Amino acid sequence: MTLTPTPTDRFSFGLWTIGYNGTDPFGGPTRPALDVVHAVEKLAELGAYGLTFHDDDLFAFGSTDAERQKQIDRLKQAMDDTGIVVPMVTTNLFSAPVFKDGGFTSNDRQVRRFALRKVLRNIDLAAELGATTFVMWGGREGAEYDTAKDVQAALERYREAVNLLGQYVTDKGYDMRFAIEPKPNEPRGDILLPTLGHALAFIESLERPELVGINPEVGHEQMAGLNFTAGIAQALYHGKLYHIDLNGQRGIKYDQDLVFGHGDLHNAFSLVDLLEHGGPGGVPAYDGPRHFDYKPSRTEDESGVWDSAAANMRMYLLLKERAQAFRADPEVQEALAAAKVSELAEPTLNEGESYDDLLSDRASYEDFDADSYFGNRGFGFVRLHQLAAEHLMGAR
Ligand code: GCO
Ligand code: MN
Ligand code: MN
Repeated sequence: MTLTPTPTDRFSFGLWTIGYNGTDPFGGPTRPALDVVHAVEKLAELGAYGLTFHDDDLFAFGSTDAERQKQIDRLKQAMDDTGIVVPMVTTNLFSAPVFKDGGFTSNDRQVRRFALRKVLRNIDLAAELGATTFVMWGGREGAEYDTAKDVQAALERYREAVNLLGQYVTDKGYDMRFAIEPKPNEPRGDILLPTLGHALAFIESLERPELVGINPEVGHEQMAGLNFTAGIAQALYHGKLYHIDLNGQRGIKYDQDLVFGHGDLHNAFSLVDLLEHGGPGGVPAYDGPRHFDYKPSRTEDESGVWDSAAANMRMYLLLKERAQAFRADPEVQEALAAAKVSELAEPTLNEGESYDDLLSDRASYEDFDADSYFGNRGFGFVRLHQLAAEHLMGAR
């Protein structure tokens, strides 16, 4: 396999990622603004296939219709010139002062109505550009103080909003699904739908659950101390992985948005292995865009921005190569068998077996030697994981 990215790899980047100018709570920009046409040209040159954006990334909040249209036209021209597509669009309901208490769940009803209008307008643009996924990250949907937010009412308003959007795309005949992006905190002290598990439960309460899935981000689950790969496995199990945000995070702290693989490398390895080989019979478990939501560190100049964009794709491809080598290694196959990894796919009961049959099966209880597990019958998981680590390090 090749380590040079091509459009068939389906790598996509947020305009806000490569366009991040270095602003953080302690300092202003360290880089000038990045023009969208230049961004599209550079991404195409590096082998990416897609660009994603928030409305406000393309045209500033409060732009006139003419300013907005000019930027849309420039983007369309750049897409035509390069072949870059827009697979996903998202709406900024967090930067402008009006959204200081959120959009869909602001305590202020007028703000909620304004937020819905902003999203509806952006859904039309998403459809016009051919996007089939609409991400909703509710960074300001939350609170700092338990006294200040009626969480159940907020969830009800969230539900009202997503139901309305589902009705809208259905009536318009748009080929578009929604993906909710969970995050535990930052910028709010606590954000609603903080983990992918919370989001999965919420989705089941919607009028059109089939239209709504999730867009989990590596760093967001890891900020909550959770295992991202395990969460993705559950999202896939429920058929809800509609999109993904890849990046790197080192432990429970602020959202670092490092290059993919520059955080918890073991978890990145198991993630790529799952996405690429996790389906039945080893087919890719996920066939959507491999979307990077990272920030080029504010220490970098423009060449560092493109080096870091390329690094995301290269890390993914290297991990894919390492995961393939891991799967193909006969010793790994043997260790997997010894660890009974595939035995877990076998139903615990025989076909047609009832609890009466189980209750009368002496081999499963009366004659079963539970004591033989003491000091014996180890699973060999550590040996298996060491083999994975050696493949990851290129030592095998
Ligand atoms: C963050 C989020 C955002 C979202 C984006 C898409 O922590 O800031 O990850 O980058 O992914 O708003 O909706
Ligand atoms: Mn993030
Ligand atoms: Mn994200």
